[in-house]
Amino acid sequence: MKADTQLIDSGREEKWTQGGVNPVVQRASTMVFDSVSDMKHATANRAGDTLFYGRRGTTTTFALSKAMTELEGGAGCALYPCGTAAITSALLSFLKHGDHLLMVDTAYEPTRAFCDNMLKNLGISTTYYDPMIGKDIDSLIQPNTRMLFLESPGSNTMEIQDVPTLSKMAHQHDITVVLDNTWGSGLLFKPFDYGVDISIQAATKYIVGHSDAMLGTAVANEKHWPRLRENSYLLGQCAAPDDCYMALRGIRTLSVRMKQHQQSALTVAQWLKQHPIVKTVLHPAFEECPGHEFFKRDFSGSNGLFSFVVNCRDEAKITAMLDGLKHFKMGFSWGGFESLILPVNGLDRLRTAKPWTEEDRVIRVHIGLEDVDDLIEDLAQGLAMLS
Ligand SMILES: Cc1ncc(COP(=O)(O)O)c(C=O)c1O
Repeated sequence: MKADTQLIDSGREEKWTQGGVNPVVQRASTMVFDSVSDMKHATANRAGDTLFYGRRGTTTTFALSKAMTELEGGAGCALYPCGTAAITSALLSFLKHGDHLLMVDTAYEPTRAFCDNMLKNLGISTTYYDPMIGKDIDSLIQPNTRMLFLESPGSNTMEIQDVPTLSKMAHQHDITVVLDNTWGSGLLFKPFDYGVDISIQAATKYIVGHSDAMLGTAVANEKHWPRLRENSYLLGQCAAPDDCYMALRGIRTLSVRMKQHQQSALTVAQWLKQHPIVKTVLHPAFEECPGHEFFKRDFSGSNGLFSFVVNCRDEAKITAMLDGLKHFKMGFSWGGFESLILPVNGLDRLRTAKPWTEEDRVIRVHIGLEDVDDLIEDLAQGLAMLS
């Protein structure tokens, strides 16, 4: 089955749709049984898609888990109330006191904060590594290293990692490989083809796709699925059926939305590239983006999120530019139908393996589904204020 057909078909088994097109929203805490033997059967099968108790899932969450597993290509998918919960649960499910974690330097800021605070307090140490380290990751592996965490592209600065090489090195030491695949969305990057053990998404972004629900997913391969599933359950992680329904609805249009995000973002990025105030465009599809060769090798396309560096350090001018935009609102998210813009702060503090030396301003944009001419016109009048 081709990818686009799979997006339409996935999670739509008759037992979940009950004759309708979409899976039914089953809201439930309590499942009731008529007999002791029914209850015993549910208990014995509670780790699968048998109704047992709301926290273990309802038919709606089973449908989404199945759809996400098909999209990313693993053995099973655990659901969480947000992407951050998926990340922290994966870390806690596979790390214990005394273990060592290798975390990419360009990780999403709260991921980093979780390592520096909660994991540290639990006696789990973290070493940050340069996203471009490749096979030299070997030199950072310690006898107690248990997990290698990747995020590709890197948050805000968009470095693409050599996932197969990193995975191969990690597996030589029996280290679990976890990837934040939110940008790749399971559509643009197939994590299990490149050696990843657990692929996480903030489904809040492109999967839901309409900026109206928070949701996290973690898809694991055969080896890691039972432990991820059981430990996430012990941590009390589950997702609301209504939000799962939103994600299921988002999945149907993921591919068409993504094509438009990609096309418009590339148009805007090309336009920015020739603008005199723009120093660099940090877009994985552009040669100057670190890891562009891995993007070309491993990804089937790009989306609406990228950054650019402006030749301007004047805060007042940048503030006036951002305040004056009409179609770009400021928001700490991306992946919805709308365009967003964000001044990136604190890179000097957030990069420790390879210090950030760029003094000019990094601006992150999410190119939405508006007409691209309107977006360029908006940016043109904004950037004019910087010169
Ligand atoms: C790359 C990445 N991972 C994880 C998250 C966290 O997702 P959530 O906001 O659903 O907790 C975000 C949110 O911005 C993100 O950008």
